[in-house]
Amino acid sequence: MLISKNLTAALNEQIGYEFFTSMQYTAIACYFGAEALPELAKHFTAQAEEERTHALKLVNYVVDSGGKMVIPTIPSPQSDFKTAEEACKLALDSELEVTKKINGLVDLAIDEKDHLAQNFLQWFVNEQLEEVSTAETLLRIVQRAGEAGLLFVEDYLARNGLAGAPDLNAQ
Ligand code: FEO
Repeated sequence: MLISKNLTAALNEQIGYEFFTSMQYTAIACYFGAEALPELAKHFTAQAEEERTHALKLVNYVVDSGGKMVIPTIPSPQSDFKTAEEACKLALDSELEVTKKINGLVDLAIDEKDHLAQNFLQWFVNEQLEEVSTAETLLRIVQRAGEAGLLFVEDYLARNGLAGAPDLNAQ
């Protein structure tokens, strides 16, 4: 077995959180779908799928390293939102929380001198830069447009998506 019981438990908890986030984004997508905002719904459906992929990546690591997989109880996500801004703010807060949790997992892997886990978790560390930045950008666009201007947000997403934001480090 390449992984400690402690780290296995922490990764299992993270797997639960990634699945929870996937459900939360699905609930946000449903909110936007019901509000007749299909591009926002599409964006959050894609985010939900990404979170599921994150969970499965962690599942594979736990299994491959010989740990015992136990998916924890997952609470219900929030389904009701008063505004688009509230839903997008929840998404940003969730990404900031994930970042904190990933950093905590890396700290634990460092404490345990588990180089394999540290190396594996680096992918998640890097991923959070994009995840937080995307959520922050969307929130700012939604705030700038206001509730009355959400069709501008739809148009923006349809034309650019959020992945289309310029990479300032590109040569
Ligand atoms: Fe799995 Fe959006 O972090």
